[in-house]
Amino acid sequence: MHRINRIGVLTSGGDSSGMNAAIRAVVRTAIYENREVFGIYKGYEGLIDGQFEQLFSHSVSNIIQRGGTILKTARSKRFLTAEGRMQAYENLKKFNIEGLIVIGGNGTFTGADVFYKEFDFPIVGLPGTIDNDLFGTDYTIGYDTAVNVVVDAADKIRDTATSHDRLFFIEVMGRDAGFIAQRSGIACGAEFILVPETKTYIDNIARLLNHDIRKNKTSGIVIVAEGDDEGGAYEIARKVKERLPEIDTRVTVLGHIQRGGPPSAGDRMLASLLGYEAVLALLNNQYNIMVGIIDKKITLTPFEKAIKNVKEIDISLLEVSRILAL
Ligand code: F6P
Repeated sequence: MHRINRIGVLTSGGDSSGMNAAIRAVVRTAIYENREVFGIYKGYEGLIDGQFEQLFSHSVSNIIQRGGTILKTARSKRFLTAEGRMQAYENLKKFNIEGLIVIGGNGTFTGADVFYKEFDFPIVGLPGTIDNDLFGTDYTIGYDTAVNVVVDAADKIRDTATSHDRLFFIEVMGRDAGFIAQRSGIACGAEFILVPETKTYIDNIARLLNHDIRKNKTSGIVIVAEGDDEGGAYEIARKVKERLPEIDTRVTVLGHIQRGGPPSAGDRMLASLLGYEAVLALLNNQYNIMVGIIDKKITLTPFEKAIKNVKEIDISLLEVSRILAL
């Protein structure tokens, strides 16, 4: 077995709450295993620019509860080029770093997969994205916190929606996936949940809003995933209003508040366990894989699969939400 003595850790792509807890777990596990750890700043950008710093146990004190990432993050265009990756490889050699742990989402693992194949460089990934769109894990780090942020905001909006008899359209993140919309929508009792995975029929929404069964409802919440096929929340609100001009509508786009704030207990747990397991995988020479949890069991999924295989949302839950929102 090849012994890896020095590990690098970085966060890349959009940040998510719980990344710090993952960094902490990686650093402390590696130190416990008598390895050295270097933090790499700003994701692949820092790898290319040689922004490395040795991390110690105290370097990660007091961060388990903090959102964001102490290592900072970026979406690197240069890492998409062969020259950029070569520069990154040379820096790793210069610093005697023999294995990497990358925390991020789709883009991060796409880069990691190419880099591993080009240089045969040991890499293990941790799923860190609010979107929850990675195959090979039930949940990604930051998703639970983002869902809680949405539910908290929707509860507040519900108060004012009720006072004014208004229909609110709340746009949530998720890129092309509807995981955040679906879970938060059910949890806040949304009247409608619109996700990219199913076709949205504006006429149906208008018809249901007008339906007898709903006649005594004077306000409501529609959760719109940003990637919905009928457009964003403003667009959809406009289309509904065209059909039902008498309804008083308002729109709230939640945006980046979904990416920040203290991680939920669930995200801290997930990040801590996955960070620990990622170091063990690397030291056991299991590379080019993402560590995840499926049905409470640790799983190792090749980057290629994690990126290319589609994790399906559970469509049947949308039906449940429709019934519960009558
Ligand atoms: O992938 C995480 C995410 O927050 C998506 O939900 C969103 O579409 C995107 O990143 C926003 O990216 P940026 O922070 O670069 O605007």
